[in-house]
Amino acid sequence: MSIKQKPIILTIAGSDSGGGAGIQADIKAISATGGYACSVITALTAQNTQGVTAVHPTPQAMIEAQLDAIFSDLSVTAVKVGMLGDVATIRTVAAALRKYKPTHLVVDPVMVTANGDMLLADDAVQCLREELLPLADVITPNLPEAAALLAAPLPKQMAEVESLFAGLAQLDCGAVLIKGGFLQQEARSPDWLLSGEQVRCFDTPRIMTPNTHGTGCTLSAALACYLGQGFTMEAAVEQAKHYIDQAILAGSRMRIGQGRGPVDHFFAL
Ligand SMILES: Nc1ncnc2c1ncn2[C@@H]1O[C@H](COP(=O)(O)OP(=O)(O)OP(=O)(O)O)[C@@H](O)[C@H]1O
Ligand SMILES: [Mg+2]
Repeated sequence: MSIKQKPIILTIAGSDSGGGAGIQADIKAISATGGYACSVITALTAQNTQGVTAVHPTPQAMIEAQLDAIFSDLSVTAVKVGMLGDVATIRTVAAALRKYKPTHLVVDPVMVTANGDMLLADDAVQCLREELLPLADVITPNLPEAAALLAAPLPKQMAEVESLFAGLAQLDCGAVLIKGGFLQQEARSPDWLLSGEQVRCFDTPRIMTPNTHGTGCTLSAALACYLGQGFTMEAAVEQAKHYIDQAILAGSRMRIGQGRGPVDHFFAL
């Protein structure tokens, strides 16, 4: 009997009890895109499609114990980092990533949900920039996060997004994938990959649906999974963008919850 190899992809993020975002979205996206998913849960959130009602951070010792348990046994090829919440958690996770040195690291600098719920303490943005970004192959900010990382004004339309490129290119990280989902009045939903001097736009028509809960988590988890399978950064972004696009389209036909529903991660089944 031959052994079946799947890349092992770790997500370090918060739990979304509603199942649409966070750890739950990541595990679904990694599984659907060909990886074996494992997880370090940084916080529990009481959450549904309508919003977050409570957040309970995981004690630091328990985050460390999860990281050590995984890295001492599983050959993790790629890591996706999502919600970290506070400075102590950022430091704990960064220390483990420096110690265990996974081959690929995607950092989704989660700061605020699309419903406006804050997921990162104010003083943590600087810590994220200093401790975690230098370790990342790619970071995946949405537009409010890209603006917050630079302390710049929030672009309101497509033409203003370019004003962030020079500042983002200066950040101490591998590449930056800026996500355009926030541009809700535009007919398209482009993402831009800044890599060295190069800018490449991955453009898709905007899907008219309220069901976009967890799109960012899903995209960054799929990206980590494709990187873990050996695709180049550009090819991995292209595939991850294609995956989220199809998942949003399929999710637009589902009714789950009464608010912003999730995407359909397993549209291909
Ligand atoms: N309505 C839409 N139609 C097509 N693509 C979309 C739509 N909304 C978001 N996307 C795409 O989904 C991906 C995630 O981007 P988005 O800007 O929504 O991230 P985010 O704000 O971090 O999401 P989250 O709310 O999960 O944190 C990007 O590739 C973006 O272009
Ligand atoms: Mg996000």
